[in-house]
Amino acid sequence: MASIQAVRGTRDILPEEIGYWQQVETIARDILARAAFKEIRTPIFEQTDLFERGIGEATDVVGKEMYTFLDKGDRSNTLRPEGTAGVVRSYIEQKLHAQGGVQRLWYMGPMFRYERPQAGRQRQFHQLGLEMLGSADVRADVESIALAVDILKAVGLDELVLEMNSLGTKADRVQYRETLVNYLRPYQADLDPDSQDRLTRNPLRILDSKAAKTQEILQDAPLLGNSLSDESQTRFEKVKGLLSDLGITYKLNPKLVRGLDYYSHTAFEFQSVQFGAVGGGGRYDGLVSELGGPETAAIGWAIGLERLIGLLQQLQPKPESQADFYLVSRGEQAEAQALKMAQQLRQAGFKAELDLSGSAFGKQFKRADRSGAAACLILGDAEAENQQVQLKWLGTGEQSEMAQTDLLGQLDELRSAIAAVRA
Ligand code: HAM
Repeated sequence: MASIQAVRGTRDILPEEIGYWQQVETIARDILARAAFKEIRTPIFEQTDLFERGIGEATDVVGKEMYTFLDKGDRSNTLRPEGTAGVVRSYIEQKLHAQGGVQRLWYMGPMFRYERPQAGRQRQFHQLGLEMLGSADVRADVESIALAVDILKAVGLDELVLEMNSLGTKADRVQYRETLVNYLRPYQADLDPDSQDRLTRNPLRILDSKAAKTQEILQDAPLLGNSLSDESQTRFEKVKGLLSDLGITYKLNPKLVRGLDYYSHTAFEFQSVQFGAVGGGGRYDGLVSELGGPETAAIGWAIGLERLIGLLQQLQPKPESQADFYLVSRGEQAEAQALKMAQQLRQAGFKAELDLSGSAFGKQFKRADRSGAAACLILGDAEAENQQVQLKWLGTGEQSEMAQTDLLGQLDELRSAIAAVRA
């Protein structure tokens, strides 16, 4: 029988890779907590309607990439392709707005898009995202971007390029859409098929096209920036000024439009050479009211964790979590005592790895060496008989025998000795 494989576009995150994930999560959790952001966990599937209305039916995400299914009651549900719509649904349904002030939320979890899998692009992938609801202030734009920059720097990625654009208001975009379509129409036949399709459905997305001929046509296209009202332009100037005040460098990209329909004003992406955008976001002032909530200004971003970690893996050695003690034992009595000692050490805050193989001491010692533990604790028949234990420091090979109670009576000394070994 053929063996069952993971579904195309999904993958296992194995223990050897998990250190990166945990490291990123710990860093992000810490940075976001210091900025008073709170974690939110919303369901991984929602009513299909939420995404259709929230993300926009003309987008690729809704039009082509959603995992949509009917449940047994014939209701249409969809695996979330992104996190913002669910957070906004929750914000409205749970009346988080009634608490007043700004809601600062973050989340991390799997998202699902039926895309063509390739390096850095999967059908199940993970995002770390942040949403800040209830402030139209330019400082909210800058605060949220600065936190993304802090997280990316803290994990060790500082070569990403922050690209910025302003998408203005809805009225600005309606005007620009017309200007752009008027410009492109004479070239319609020369555009790539996707862009031809977008000319009526979602013309702004044509700016994102990678097709060479389309790019060439776009070279002289009118820019969205020139269609922005004075107010929108002033707003963007303020955002840029405050970013510079914080020492955050960025590159203007007048063709950056984002792939989801809910954006207005500030839009940004963190670009890498290898995977394209590692993260992106922007302001979405109309989304809460669009989905039935009160008028609420909001901004947020999401970072793709597979892309982020893919880059980290090339830059940094694997973060490993190594045991303090590796317990080697042989013989019934010794094995029982080692089990107990491992538990006592764990309860005292040490990391203790217990060898369960029952194999010859030589084999267990080899595994102890490979484990990266600071020290090995050895119990054989003789030690078990006398309630003794051998303590061997794996770095130096230094070994001593002591009563088990003595070992457990000098935990502070052991802690310092292990810290010294690790330093
Ligand atoms: P997005 O740009 O669609 O924005 O996705 C954010 C990031 O998720 C991307 O930059 C990329 O790193 C990652 N990503 C997207 N699709 C895939 C995929 N198929 N495989 C691997 N990684 C992927 C959003 O999702 C918005 N909700 C961000 C946001 C939050 N805007 C406001 N608030």
